[in-house]
Amino acid sequence: MYVSIEEALKILKNGDLVAIPTETVYGLAACYDNPSAIQKIFSIKGRPSNNPLILHLSCPKEASIFIKQEPPCFKALTDFFWPGPLTLIVPALTEKLDPMIRAGLSTIALRIPSHPETLSLLKKTGPLVAPSANLSTRPSSTRYQHIVHDFGNDFPVLVGQEPGKGVESTILAFNGERWEIAREGACCASSLCQVLGYLPVKTATKSEKPLCPGQCYRHYSPRKKLITSFESAPSQGDLILGYSDRNYTGALIYDLGSSSNPEEIAYRLYDGLRQIDQDERVLRGWIDMDLPQTDEFSTLLERMKKASQK
Ligand code: TXA
Ligand code: MG
Repeated sequence: MYVSIEEALKILKNGDLVAIPTETVYGLAACYDNPSAIQKIFSIKGRPSNNPLILHLSCPKEASIFIKQEPPCFKALTDFFWPGPLTLIVPALTEKLDPMIRAGLSTIALRIPSHPETLSLLKKTGPLVAPSANLSTRPSSTRYQHIVHDFGNDFPVLVGQEPGKGVESTILAFNGERWEIAREGACCASSLCQVLGYLPVKTATKSEKPLCPGQCYRHYSPRKKLITSFESAPSQGDLILGYSDRNYTGALIYDLGSSSNPEEIAYRLYDGLRQIDQDERVLRGWIDMDLPQTDEFSTLLERMKKASQK
């Protein structure tokens, strides 16, 4: 159910949750200073309590309330990318932030989303914690209908344009010396390089203490099996997630757009992955991962690979 900014404000101040559109994917928001509302996020998503949440802000000044120590280049990054799809993990002033938000870590993930209605809401509510608005391990929500599917018709969704990018924000974490990419996302590495003066490396996800706990979990996956083009050819009953400029043999095709247009593919990817479960005729998903191994396609290939892992 769509709600206005005023209605969303009331619901949040009352300790309940609202789905908020951002430029990347929908978020599932709660007031950052209301522990029982934060608890609701974890329970309705089925999210493990050791997976921390991003704190969404309306202006860079607000960030200083929560930061213990600004890492180098923090200001340059925020000046250039905020509002926008970049999340920064920084040392937290822990006393200002419920441990549930941080999953007990001494850091906090901060971001200012670029979305007019959500920014207006944030100006009224103050900081909101919000993970992606989907059931844990499943694809994020990029359409209003995805929220209805996951949380029901009556779940409040702030009015406003649906997310345009279709993949989550890029997460950068400072490792004491340099910024690292803890999660690839809508900001590509080369654009970060322009501001940092070096190309940030991707954090090893297999390490014992990963910089970004969420990266260790299963993610973006349909319930039904998803096969990639690296594994085998599609067979009957497969929903083929493919490109408009290629030919596939099979009856069920979900068009991800042109294989040379990463923005279009990103915009459609999670809807396509969700379709695998929603279409009753479909036995299995099959996704064409034959895309250029370039910076522009890197996030997409990472999401596709993760979605296909069991
Ligand atoms: O685009 C986005 O980032 C969306 C929109 C709604 O803002 N949000 C999003 O949130 O994708 P979520 O919770 O689905 O993913 C956030 C990731 C998780 O993998 C989590 O582990 C990581 O950020 N994270 C959050 N706080 C962290 C922290 N203090 N240290 C390390 N990783 C953190
Ligand atoms: Mg998520």
